[in-house]
Amino acid sequence: MIRSFTLLLLIAFCGKLFPAGDSECGALESCIDYKADVHDLFSLQRGLGLYMNYCSSCHSLEYLRWNRLQKDLDIPKNILREDLILNPNIKNSDYMTFGLNSDDSTAWLGAYAPDLTLRTRVRGESWVYTYLQSFYEDASRPLGSNNLVLQGSSMPHVLSSLQGRQQLNNKGELVKVSEGKLSEQEFDNAMQDLVNFLAYAAEPIRSEREKNGIFVILFFVIFTAVMWLLNREYSKDIK
Ligand code: HEC
Repeated sequence: MIRSFTLLLLIAFCGKLFPAGDSECGALESCIDYKADVHDLFSLQRGLGLYMNYCSSCHSLEYLRWNRLQKDLDIPKNILREDLILNPNIKNSDYMTFGLNSDDSTAWLGAYAPDLTLRTRVRGESWVYTYLQSFYEDASRPLGSNNLVLQGSSMPHVLSSLQGRQQLNNKGELVKVSEGKLSEQEFDNAMQDLVNFLAYAAEPIRSEREKNGIFVILFFVIFTAVMWLLNREYSKDIK
């Protein structure tokens, strides 16, 4: 009993020591801590809306199928076809590649925009959340923007109309130089929705897995209690 408890502690400790994703945060000391919530359906739907409007022209989601998205995010079939898929040649069972060819869809940027299905797993949710907040104007870059988390990033500040323009002050900190359509709080919330959606895309089963996890733990607790009682009864006979 004590040995298995120690083993469990050791596993939990290793998880903390070697977390999934990269905790490095570029020029920042640390990323803003954020853990995605994949149980809030409305947030995932809002995140999908942002993704379609601001990201899908460059980034694919090549491991997620349209019909899986439709089922999980409770999207009416006609909205899926008429407002999201749009192209009649794309089937509901196709992957969400948006017709992007990974090699040359963003060649005009001089860079390749990586597929985003698994990015929150590779980089970590906090990294992506902080990255999306940390764009600033930099006249030395070809597209006039840079990013504190990924220095020299070729991705333009596509969310500047929502967030407002940002620059660096002489201490190297981000300062807002114009207002966007959203207030700071609204923009934070929007980025949470977007990262929640990306975390869902990385593992569509996650919501179910986390819910099932509670039942599994509950089962073990009850099972252990029953076994303990049984053991007590048996030991009585042995004595
Ligand atoms: C105009 C094209 C374009 C749009 C639109 C765009 N991106 Fe990018 N994105 C890129 C390019 C190019 C890169 C690669 C940057 C690099 O490595 O220098 C990139 C990189 C990224 C990365 C970092 C990937 C990594 O791990 O290195 C993330 C995360 C990301 N984009 C998320 C988004 C999200 C979310 C949106 C929508 C809000 C979005 N992008 C919209 C072009 C785009």
